[in-house]
Amino acid sequence: MDDATRALIADAVNHQLQSTVTVLSSLLAVEDAIGYVPPEAVEAVAARMDATINDVWAVATFYPNFRFEPPTAHRIEVCWGPSCHVMGATAVIAAAQDALGLSGEGDTPDGKATLRYNTCLGACAHAPVMAIDHHLAGRITPDSARAKIAGALTAAAAH
Ligand code: FES
Repeated sequence: MDDATRALIADAVNHQLQSTVTVLSSLLAVEDAIGYVPPEAVEAVAARMDATINDVWAVATFYPNFRFEPPTAHRIEVCWGPSCHVMGATAVIAAAQDALGLSGEGDTPDGKATLRYNTCLGACAHAPVMAIDHHLAGRITPDSARAKIAGALTAAAAH
């Protein structure tokens, strides 16, 4: 791990603005800062919270949304909340899996993208909804999901 990343972790753990600082808030601060929770961050959180490393790992692994490896180039989220489910999310999820060569949530083997399901992306009126790198898109169809994912991956290849 480079010094810059260590500094980001230290800043995230030690300069939280809210009045109540917890193991969970510290882990979230790290995830926001660098996109994942490496072992060095677990050690930093343990030291800051006067907790054991095992206690911090217990919290971190309890929540499925924490990553423990560096993030992939693109985060693709498909909503399967109630509104999106009614409006066809199942077919959109199947299309996203197909476009990414995945059979469920997770990272593509080439490290280019991560697929996640979301219980509500906050745009139910535009269901079904997906987000690519936090940019929302509504009224998604299986074909438009494939096209948007292909566009994101192509853009990645161009960089
Ligand atoms: S249920 Fe899908 S955006 Fe709210």
